Order: sequence, then C-alpha cells, then structure tokens
Amino acid sequence: MATDKIQRTLALIKPDAIDKSPEIEKIILEEGFTVVDRRRVRLTRAEAEEFYGEHRGKSFYNSLVDYITSGEVLAFILAGDDAINHWRRVLGPTQVSRARHEAPGSIRARFGNSNNDFHNAAHGSDSVNSAQREIRFFFPDLTLEPVLTGEGAKEYLSHAVSPTLVRALTELCKVRPEDPIVWLADWLLVNNPNKPNTDM
Ligand code: TYD
Ligand code: MG
Repeated sequence: MATDKIQRTLALIKPDAIDKSPEIEKIILEEGFTVVDRRRVRLTRAEAEEFYGEHRGKSFYNSLVDYITSGEVLAFILAGDDAINHWRRVLGPTQVSRARHEAPGSIRARFGNSNNDFHNAAHGSDSVNSAQREIRFFFPDLTLEPVLTGEGAKEYLSHAVSPTLVRALTELCKVRPEDPIVWLADWLLVNNPNKPNTDM
C-alpha cells in the first residue's frame, strides 16, 4: 500500500540552476512532496568533499566539487510516499543528454546545462542510508521523529492524537469562539500532552 513507505529525502538545487528554483519548487509541490525544511547555503570545499565523499578518488570528483561550490545551493528535506525513488524519477537520469533523450519532462532534462552533461541542475539521495546522512549533513540541528507508518501510525493516532482532539473539539463546541482555528491552535498549545512538565 502506498502509505506504507513515507520517506524523507534530500533534494538540492545546484548552483547554476538556482535561478530556476521557483520553477523547480513548483514541480516539487505539484508532485505532492511536503517540504519539511529548506536552507540556502554556499558549501566550502571541505564540506563539498565530505558531502560527495562516496565519489572520492573518481576521475570526476574534483570537477564535481568545483561545480557544487561554484555558488549557493538550495537544500530541501522532502517528505512523501516513496520520496527517495519518487524524487529521483522526477530528476531523471544523471547525464543531461540522457535525461533529454529518455525523460524530456524531467528536471535534469529541462534545467540541466546543454554544454556540460554533468551539470545536471539538481540532486537527490539514492537510498535510505544516504538520505539520512545527507539530511543530517545539511540540517544538523533538526531533530526528526521517525516516520510512523501502518499500525504504528494508527496506534499513535488513537492513543496520542484522537483523545486530545476530542477534548479540544468538545470544548470548542461549548465555547463557540469567534475564530475557531486560532482558538483551537491556542488550546492545543496550552493542553499539549507532550509538553515538558516545568512544575517539577
Ligand atoms: P552519481 O551519484 O553517480 O549520480 P546522481 O547525481 O544521479 O546520484 O554522481 C554524482 C554527481 O557527479 C552527478 O550528479 C554528476 C557528477 N558526475 C560526473 O561529473 N561525472 C560522472 O561520470 C558521473 C557518473 C557523475
Ligand atoms: Mg548519487
């Protein structure tokens, strides 16, 4: 089932495509991804070498590091069903010429550089492990709870979310506030069952 594989992945808009970021972000949303966080950053050479560490020693390593440090990049954490493979499908093949041939609607086909087959506009993690590593690399301060799916998600909803929501909505019906959304948001803040207990 589709909802069994909610994942997060790291997407990067590379330096020479950053001008196209509004169009690329539009595709991200149209494809149904949720943007969990975003950050615009210029990588140092050392950071780029670490990020692309898996390619160290390959013939293209230095030019890849040159490319990714040639300007700012825009990093996104994307979440969604099967997000890792989904985002890679949206990107298209690594080589721009292949992307244009095999997936003309893909991001690399549309926004990759016509003169350099490997200046391919955007990046996507290629596995669960690399997604985890790459998200931590760009967003070290972010604490993300593991994504619950299937029975775990149902359990969480019925034990942690529903009882609080039922209380909140019952109260809301009694009070009938003028702006119910704002009232509900405030109520949830005050009555958050996960709030740290500061009285003790
Ligand atoms: P790789 O991880 O193989 O591709 P992908 O980005 O699709 O996961 O390679 C990382 C980047 O390195 C790739 O986006 C472009 C660059 N590259 C080259 O410059 N030359 C090459 O021969 C390859 C394979 C990649
Ligand atoms: Mg890769």
